[in-house]
Amino acid sequence: MVDMSVSLAGVVLRNPIMTAAGTCGYVDEFADVLDPSRLGAMVTKSITSQPREGHPPWRLVEVPLGMLNAVGLANVGLQRFLDEKLPGAAGLDTVLIGSIAGNSIEDYVAVAAAFDAEDRLPLVELNVSCPNTQDGLVFGEDPDHLRKLLGEVRPALKRTKMLVKLSPNVGDIVAMAGAAIEAGADGLTLINTMSALAIDVEAGTPRLSRGSGGLSGPAIHPIALRMVHQVYHAAAGPAGVPLIGLGGVMRWSDAAEFILAGATAVGMGTALFVDPRSPKAVLKGLARWVQRQGCSSIRELVGQVKPP
Ligand SMILES: Cc1cc2nc3c(=O)[nH]c(=O)nc-3n(C[C@H](O)[C@H](O)[C@H](O)COP(=O)(O)O)c2cc1C
Repeated sequence: MVDMSVSLAGVVLRNPIMTAAGTCGYVDEFADVLDPSRLGAMVTKSITSQPREGHPPWRLVEVPLGMLNAVGLANVGLQRFLDEKLPGAAGLDTVLIGSIAGNSIEDYVAVAAAFDAEDRLPLVELNVSCPNTQDGLVFGEDPDHLRKLLGEVRPALKRTKMLVKLSPNVGDIVAMAGAAIEAGADGLTLINTMSALAIDVEAGTPRLSRGSGGLSGPAIHPIALRMVHQVYHAAAGPAGVPLIGLGGVMRWSDAAEFILAGATAVGMGTALFVDPRSPKAVLKGLARWVQRQGCSSIRELVGQVKPP
């Protein structure tokens, strides 16, 4: 038996495998297909202060080695989430993480303050891949913009730890990670989807109604791995800030790569669309791998990739 437990900013997860934001609904509906007690944590879909319809169909299409989505943050909004969704999720035997999104700093602060009042959410995750309607800039694509947002959200979180989910659509991921850490991030999630496009050549139009969308799945795994590795060595490792590796994890070896690159925990999103029970197999393979490495705890392997 190996110890698979990990700690995210002082919050203990029984194992490092988590479901990713937006890929398991409001989380309680997912409990019908996968026992939450098998998971280290579950992240809700991103919640905004007001309800959102999202984009019209098509908003999710399959592409080689992944999926392209432009869901547009469809969700019931903060109040209905608190009244109707959170009570169902609260009974689940796993760590719950509330994902927050917005189109203004005030939006983020409102949801953060409300989540902070909920004991059942020990951690929140800020989805910063959203444009600020005031200036059109995406919060997570400019270090100054990100610092400003986190500077306002941080004081609203009196009890809850703050994870910041970084966008890969930037030139310098270390600069973004550094800005988030400076502004008080307790942990970083890497990565959100990558901006991409698919075209229907018969119709001559983009396959998604919105045009471009976010690429997820195995296609982005090596990119996510490179970013986790870089951020671990240049920013998060020295600061003692834990990382959640996310992007294209389908098999246990993909998760093991993230651990060696510097991730403390590992998320799964697109894999749940292929087989919602796949986290069980990933966890099993991961535990066997830790044993084969001669370690008693998975924590011993975080960041232990050797030079080529
Ligand atoms: C259909 C779909 C919806 C998503 N919704 C959200 C969301 O609401 N908030 C968020 O932070 N990320 C969202 N994501 C991004 C995932 O959480 C994850 O970062 C990304 O898909 C990469 O991981 P994967 O390759 O394992 O899917 C969504 C992804 C997909 C495929």
